[in-house]
Amino acid sequence: MSGTQSTYNDKVVRQFSVMTVIWGIVGMLVGVIIAAQLVWPELNFGFLHFGRLRPLHTNAVIFAFGGCALFATSYWCVQRTCHTRLWGGPLVPFTFWGWQLVIVLAAVTLPLGITSGKEYAELEWPIDILITLVWVSYALVFFGTVAKRTVSHIYVANWFFGAFILTVAVLHLVNSAAMPVSFTKSYSAYAGVQDAMIQWWYGHNAVGFFLTAGFLGMMYYFVPKQAGRPVYSYRLSVVHFWALIFTYMWAGPHHLHYTALPDWTQSVGMLFSLILLAPSWGGMINGIMTLSGAWHKLRDDPVLKFLITSLSFYGMSTFEGPMMSIKTVNALSHYTDWTVGHVHSGALGWVAMVSIGSIYYLLPRLFGKTEMFSTKLVTVHFWIATIGTVLYIASMWIAGVMQGLMWRAVNVDGTLTYSFVQSVKESYPFWAIRWLGGVLFLAGMFIMAYNMFKTMAGGKTEDMPVMAPAGHHA
Ligand code: HEM
Ligand code: HEM
Repeated sequence: MSGTQSTYNDKVVRQFSVMTVIWGIVGMLVGVIIAAQLVWPELNFGFLHFGRLRPLHTNAVIFAFGGCALFATSYWCVQRTCHTRLWGGPLVPFTFWGWQLVIVLAAVTLPLGITSGKEYAELEWPIDILITLVWVSYALVFFGTVAKRTVSHIYVANWFFGAFILTVAVLHLVNSAAMPVSFTKSYSAYAGVQDAMIQWWYGHNAVGFFLTAGFLGMMYYFVPKQAGRPVYSYRLSVVHFWALIFTYMWAGPHHLHYTALPDWTQSVGMLFSLILLAPSWGGMINGIMTLSGAWHKLRDDPVLKFLITSLSFYGMSTFEGPMMSIKTVNALSHYTDWTVGHVHSGALGWVAMVSIGSIYYLLPRLFGKTEMFSTKLVTVHFWIATIGTVLYIASMWIAGVMQGLMWRAVNVDGTLTYSFVQSVKESYPFWAIRWLGGVLFLAGMFIMAYNMFKTMAGGKTEDMPVMAPAGHHA
């Protein structure tokens, strides 16, 4: 081995890891602001009202916070498990700077009301083209690195990261097809119910691949590493992979129950959502059981606490999702805060917690330290994040079921028992509790940032040498 081949590219992992924490704070701060706007409507001033800030929140937490976490962990994992430096030369920094530019452009355009109006795909066509360029570069870097691996085996985490990268490329290209009418405005290439179907095929697979498959990649790498144990079952991981990616593709119509979408399509969506419970739980069990024989480590290792708790929330939200996809249940839950609760049990409990755990694993290693500046603060972060998540989702469950029941209540003469505004009034206390949960979760992110900067201070930033695969001699 010689030259640049002899070290890993850790610089890009460092950049993405630090930005994960920064964008986490930004995205969750906007979340706390919109949660406050629902409790205190006076806060909706100027152009920074709920309607403009909500897409800013979703884009910032999913694509900026979640995206940077996925870049950081996939780049670390693919190098370590393929025993080689990242392929792609200048493409690698381009993925970092290009992605940051996408985020900044989103943060400018969304509050100005420049939007294509498609949920989770709001950005207008010039930004969509930039996303495509960054994503193709990401795919080239990732698969280029897999191709030049020095071991024959491709570790399962890379299968999940790879599926996430490929699928997001396909989803983005198909759903964003549009006809521009000006630099800041375009119209979807699809119309009517086809547009809705394409949008929710995209939307649901954004959940399945952006918010799940890549994070399962994290699980398969960081849980065994932090626990110091091999994955519970390699065979289960292979079944898990194929079953999950096959099933997710068909579940999108559960977002369009009781709409103009053909009825049989809705039933197919429901059926595949119910089937999806099995691979989801197979994956969760594989992650949690990796700890068998090492359960005692949970007691004093807060990083492991984050990782394992995230898997419990993953199991909860992937049980809840299939239940909500049953048409009769959806008739109650749809349009209510139950959906928002479900979203955040996945988003805070699963996506954010597994990312936070993985970034805590990476930070000391990236800055030449043996551990975080303060392990105690990691424990504090874990507890306030968990309490924040529970406050958020429990309040939304209660508010959601209450709203659903109030909206459907009828008097004997067939008139509605409650006006809509009564259900809004009854929801206030729960929105206040959700806001408090969000404030706690955000406070945890500030603690993480403090701990991160203290860990970085005086740290070394040299790239680590590439490790020879077991049984080989460099
Ligand atoms: C087996 C797995 C899952 C199934 C079957 C499922 C099913 C569902 C259903 C039925 C809805 C409500 C649709 C509606 O009434 O409008 C929903 C909404 C949602 N779920 Fe899940 N879910 C699953 C897992 C997850 C996970 C793990 C996450 C996050 C990480 C997540 C994120 C979301 C989001 C963001 C929405 C809201 C979409 C929107 O209306 O904007 N889901 N899901
Ligand atoms: C401090 C933490 C957070 C707070 C306070 C917060 C708050 C909110 C609020 C108030 C809404 C709007 C709900 C509505 O329209 O009624 C929302 C929507 C949403 N948030 Fe968050 N959020 C937080 C963290 C996150 C994270 C980390 C993610 C993803 C990784 C996320 C993903 C979403 C999504 C996908 C929606 C749209 C849900 C839907 O359409 O049903 N949030 N959030």
